[in-house]
Amino acid sequence: MNTPQVIIITGTSSGIGFVLAEYFGKKGHKVYGLSRKYTESSYFTSIPTDVTDNSAIQNAIAEVLKTETRIDVLINNAGMGMVGAVEDSAKEDILKLFNLNLVGAVQMMSAVLPKMRENKSGKIINISSIGSEMGLPFRGFYSASKSALDKVTEAMRYEVYPWNIDVCSLHLGDIKTNIAENRVRTKVSEPYKNVFEKVYSLMNAHVGEGTEPLEVAAYIEALLSKNKWKAHYYFGKFGQKIGVPLKWILPQGTYENLMKKYNKLD
Ligand SMILES: NC(=O)c1ccc[n+]([C@@H]2O[C@H](COP(=O)([O-])OP(=O)(O)OC[C@H]3O[C@@H](n4cnc5c(N)ncnc54)[C@H](OP(=O)(O)O)[C@@H]3O)[C@@H](O)[C@H]2O)c1
Repeated sequence: MNTPQVIIITGTSSGIGFVLAEYFGKKGHKVYGLSRKYTESSYFTSIPTDVTDNSAIQNAIAEVLKTETRIDVLINNAGMGMVGAVEDSAKEDILKLFNLNLVGAVQMMSAVLPKMRENKSGKIINISSIGSEMGLPFRGFYSASKSALDKVTEAMRYEVYPWNIDVCSLHLGDIKTNIAENRVRTKVSEPYKNVFEKVYSLMNAHVGEGTEPLEVAAYIEALLSKNKWKAHYYFGKFGQKIGVPLKWILPQGTYENLMKKYNKLD
């Protein structure tokens, strides 16, 4: 990435997105940050945008293209968590989550692809989670929403490569941000209360002990300088990343027992 790139990042008002936007802006790239809240920064241009609203996305991209002739990179980072038992989850909450984590990301891709096709080049990173590779207890819909985005990513790779456009899922482990505060939290019913509270405090502790967002930025920078991508990349602590290959190689029962231990269910 020696030449300055035009980079659009969603979810830049906090957490990973903010750090990414400032990181790439400081390195001399033209960065546009799309989140609902306007964010003051000397390093990137903030365009208040709700990525669940397709007309807001169209306006934001038109705004970018007033100054730019190309869009080199899209990082679909806007997202949120959701916690609660599957049984307790309300339809409205499930739809809200999928509307952001899946549909919002898809609408962003649809909005930048015409320009990327015109320029016969483009790179799209969909920020996923290590938790998309397994159904996490009390985060079933979060896992499912990111997993759905992964499948869309895999499918798109076959569709857009003729124009030299590459797409990948970047599965993150726990990263130290305020994601816990912004999660949809379902009302927990009596039968699940005790075990939920244990798992919930553990998941928050993991985020608190998570990797610094700046390390994600350095990882993405290295990824962007590669010529060709794989569909999936995994970034995080070894103890979390190892959960992915273990699921492929261990007998299912052994894997579930391991997950029960990791999540302190036993
Ligand atoms: N932190 C972790 O441990 C972790 C692990 C794996 C994956 N991830 C993923 O990493 C991404 C970033 O998470 P984070 O930890 O940085 O969380 P965060 O601090 O809560 O940031 C979420 C960002 O998404 C934006 N956002 C939410 N709804 C939006 C909407 N409708 N339109 C536009 N932007 C919206 C928020 O801005 P506004 O409220 O201003 O819109 C905010 O800037 C998410 O996709 C998350 O699932 C995080």
